[in-house]
Amino acid sequence: MSDSNDTAATTGQYTPPAHHLLHSGYSNDTLRRWQSSNTELHPHNFVLPLFVTEDVSGEIPVVSMPGVSRYSIPALEQYLPSLLDDGLTSVLLFGVVPSARKDSVGSYSCAAGSPVVLAIKMIKTKFPSLTVICDVCLCAYTTHGHCGELHEDGSINNTASVNRITAQALAYAKAGADVVAPSDMMDGRVGAMKQALQREGLSGKVSVLSYAVKFSSSFYGPFRDAAESAPAFGDRRCYQLPLGSSGLAHRAAARDVAEGADMLMVKPGMPYLDLVRSVKDAFPHLPMFIYQVSGEYAMLHHGAAAGVFDLRKILSEVFTGMRRAGADVIISYYTPRVLRWLKEDHTAAGSPLL
Ligand code: PBG
Repeated sequence: MSDSNDTAATTGQYTPPAHHLLHSGYSNDTLRRWQSSNTELHPHNFVLPLFVTEDVSGEIPVVSMPGVSRYSIPALEQYLPSLLDDGLTSVLLFGVVPSARKDSVGSYSCAAGSPVVLAIKMIKTKFPSLTVICDVCLCAYTTHGHCGELHEDGSINNTASVNRITAQALAYAKAGADVVAPSDMMDGRVGAMKQALQREGLSGKVSVLSYAVKFSSSFYGPFRDAAESAPAFGDRRCYQLPLGSSGLAHRAAARDVAEGADMLMVKPGMPYLDLVRSVKDAFPHLPMFIYQVSGEYAMLHHGAAAGVFDLRKILSEVFTGMRRAGADVIISYYTPRVLRWLKEDHTAAGSPLL
């Protein structure tokens, strides 16, 4: 669309001074890109979360997240090549195990044969260029579904929990993970993991991505269905951050940076962009991750399915907003589709922004 400010002068209305005329600065795609620096979307800005099972039945759709499945190791091996072809650079692994594997302390989280350990080994053998991040938490491995071990009265046993998740992180690191990402929210776990990695001679190879700013959100509902990790009683408000707190969020980020976190995350995404910006400003030298969680995925899916908006356009807006807020990396279940769109854009002459 062309634009003209000539009429104002002839009708005697307000005439903006020349330096207030902004439209000329973004009148074509290249100019629009120049005005949008640090908000570009490249394949390396996206991480794909994957649910890995020990089931051999292949690919099992997650009902609450249409388009998302859980994969057995062989099914994952089949699925990854096309994604790599589309430019996938990184995955975030979650294990899903049957209830027979679960106990009150989540001991299977550290097992040598856990689905995550087997998936890391398969990926590092078959697809060595892929960067593997592993979620570290007990909720998928405990019978009660909480993220840590509990005292008899049901409260969190922080010391026992930190010991267990540190062992879990080491099991993943030894199997070949590039990044361990504690999402449990126990106090002191980043320092414990950094120390353990150093003791094992792995500190130069394995980094720690802290889910430092993780809120006690209703947006995690579909994930708990996918990972079979809903708490059997109570909720997670005693260890995940209160929704209105930005002070605690900053203290948690500062604490994790002091303990040696290599990268930081804010989670969920869309309602917490203020914290992406302020935490990124506070720690500009650490890569900032944002997690577009399961509930955000489902909400956007259903909105598009109901004809409220076009999925591609709305995702372009949401992801650009996340980048503008300061996110370097976006964790999204939409990654496969985004990679395909980016690839099409790259090959189509004069293509629009994503
Ligand atoms: C494990 C964990 C959760 C998510 C990531 N890691 C669930 C929770 O904390 O309740 C949520 C991810 C999503 O909703 O997509 N603690």
